[in-house]
Amino acid sequence: MGAYRDVWERSIQEPEAFWGDAARNIDWYREPTTVLDRSKDPIFEWFPDGEMNTCFNALDRHVAAGNGERLALIYDSPVTDTKATYTYSELLDQVSRFAGVLSGLGAKKGDRVVIYMPMIPEALIAMLACARIGAVHSVVFGGFAAHELAMRIDDAKPVLVVTASCGIEVNRVIEYKPLVDAALEECEHRPAHCVVFERPQAKPVMVEPRDVNWVRAMQGASGTECVGVAGSDPLYILYTSGTTGRPKGVVRENAGHAVALTWSMPNVYDAQPGDVFWAASDVGWVVGHSYIVYAPLLAGCTTVLYEGKPVGTPDAGAYWRVIAEYGVKALFTAPTGFRAVKREDPTGALLAQYDLSKFKYLFLAGERLDPETYTWASDLLGVPVIDHWWQTETGWPIAANLMGLDPMAVKAGSPTVPVPGFDVRIMDESGEFVGPGVEGLIMIRTPLPPGCTSSVWGDDAKFTDAYLSHTPGYYLTGDGGHFDDDGYLFVMGRVDDVINVAGHRLSTGEIEEIIAGHPDVAECAVIGVADNLKGQVPRGLAVLKAGVERDHATIANELVQRVRNQLGAVASLHQVDIVAALPKTRSGKVLRKSMRAIADGVEMAVPSTIDNPAILEALRPVLRSQ
Ligand code: COA
Ligand code: AMP
Repeated sequence: MGAYRDVWERSIQEPEAFWGDAARNIDWYREPTTVLDRSKDPIFEWFPDGEMNTCFNALDRHVAAGNGERLALIYDSPVTDTKATYTYSELLDQVSRFAGVLSGLGAKKGDRVVIYMPMIPEALIAMLACARIGAVHSVVFGGFAAHELAMRIDDAKPVLVVTASCGIEVNRVIEYKPLVDAALEECEHRPAHCVVFERPQAKPVMVEPRDVNWVRAMQGASGTECVGVAGSDPLYILYTSGTTGRPKGVVRENAGHAVALTWSMPNVYDAQPGDVFWAASDVGWVVGHSYIVYAPLLAGCTTVLYEGKPVGTPDAGAYWRVIAEYGVKALFTAPTGFRAVKREDPTGALLAQYDLSKFKYLFLAGERLDPETYTWASDLLGVPVIDHWWQTETGWPIAANLMGLDPMAVKAGSPTVPVPGFDVRIMDESGEFVGPGVEGLIMIRTPLPPGCTSSVWGDDAKFTDAYLSHTPGYYLTGDGGHFDDDGYLFVMGRVDDVINVAGHRLSTGEIEEIIAGHPDVAECAVIGVADNLKGQVPRGLAVLKAGVERDHATIANELVQRVRNQLGAVASLHQVDIVAALPKTRSGKVLRKSMRAIADGVEMAVPSTIDNPAILEALRPVLRSQ
């Protein structure tokens, strides 16, 4: 632990010196004279007066250094039976021309561009093209429904939307264009244009002159050079679920992000230029932003874009096939993916067909890694299985076993130690910071390191309220956990209304708002209950308005559909029970924690503040049923 300890200490004691050194690993048009601007505390800005371009660092500089023929991107799509590769030069050519398309349609530095795309190369090209011209992209996950897209468009106010005609879910074609049209219909804000990449699986209906065909626009486009941006200028906005019904637009700045991700690749992931790095996630999530798109390219690696699932495309050997076929050194995904493989192929028999000799690490994040899945993966693969903990807000790991810096013994259930830059503390219920062995809120002392969110889009006050006001000088992570005597951190789960479904983050509050909007519903509660595959899934309980006499099963079904239509299939809400009443405290707070404990079969004392214990008792059989 010695090497790690020294590096971590320096990052905390001398952040300016530490990150000033790290900043030398990216290219600047103008080097920053200020590493960290503390003048607007509690909002901190990294490298505010430096000038750089993230796309230049991800593509141009590798080509300029003579590595243009190195593979930048491997696209593997079992759902369309397609494979394609792009060298750094080829990717640069596409990105620079698409940047020309964006500029030609009026997008310029600081403008927002919403990207609603499936897992195809054009999604990366669109993101990098935005970075190239200094436009701020906001990628919306394809599993979200039109209403979610509309909320994000109204908040980000983009000049353009970029989409594709469809996504493909195993063997189901999901037409994206009608969803975009519906979202644009619902929005108050109207972007000038919508660029549509037409896939052979679905022909989009184009609304001229608003809609522009990607391929035709590219034919006439010329290459565009990178635009210099200030280090603190935003690179992207990524919306994530908070405790309220409206998602928060997490803002990521250009320079801090490039510096932190570039540092993370060799130190956390032991990834060197030329290594093949595969993050099996989606570009719509933070893992996709950071470790499919930006970090591997910043570090000169080859990134894999996989349009498929761990199982069913075509079988539970998909991970092994891709690793073997492309010589993947490190795979990064969510534990759910491995639970899915384990369920279909419990002995890992399919592995025997593949040569995994180049495979060195499995990194898992997005939800708690249960010790059973850890042991299964570790025994099967015989390589380090690294649990690491992070959030959309931080953009890179807060705690990890740093494979390139100082690998440590693994403790199942722990993402190991705080990553340099993160000063992680535990606060107990009475507001005291506590030592090893005591459970509490996980907080991070500010300033957060580079790469972490600097604000909520358009709302600094919301950012400070949500994250920085609980305890001045500390960032509230929303997770609970503890340190052990060896300094290992254990993250036990969210302490707020955020749930993790298959590594996807959802807000129970948002689902509740959708259910409560049904004309027959008087009040409702949504809880996250344990699920063997997805870690957690939401369950709803609804109380109907007096006088509603419609069939309960019909209403329950409408509520499930309502969530699917408004939030998206990704919510995985399959069960809503119509109940007579919800258990509450005497002050009227719904006892979600108690209901969750009953559903999960966990012993928990009934809170002394309960108003009517009989209501909770009556719900027991409902909550235990599935
Ligand atoms: N576009 C449209 N619909 C989507 C979608 C997308 N991009 N992604 C998911 N959906 C739909 C799915 O088709 C599914 O619909 P259904 O209820 O009609 O079947 C629903 O949203 C739920 O999707 P998902 O949570 O992915 O569950 P699944 O049952 O389809 O697959 C796993 C289960 C375990 C295979 C899948 O969750 C998985 O691959 N997990 C790996 C972890 C991961 O990638 N996490 C991301 C963060 S790192
Ligand atoms: P997201 O912002 O979607 O990446 O979700 C972040 C949340 O996922 C965190 O606040 C945690 O609750 C959870 N999470 C992510 N990684 C881990 C991990 N390694 N262990 C436990 N929980 C995790």
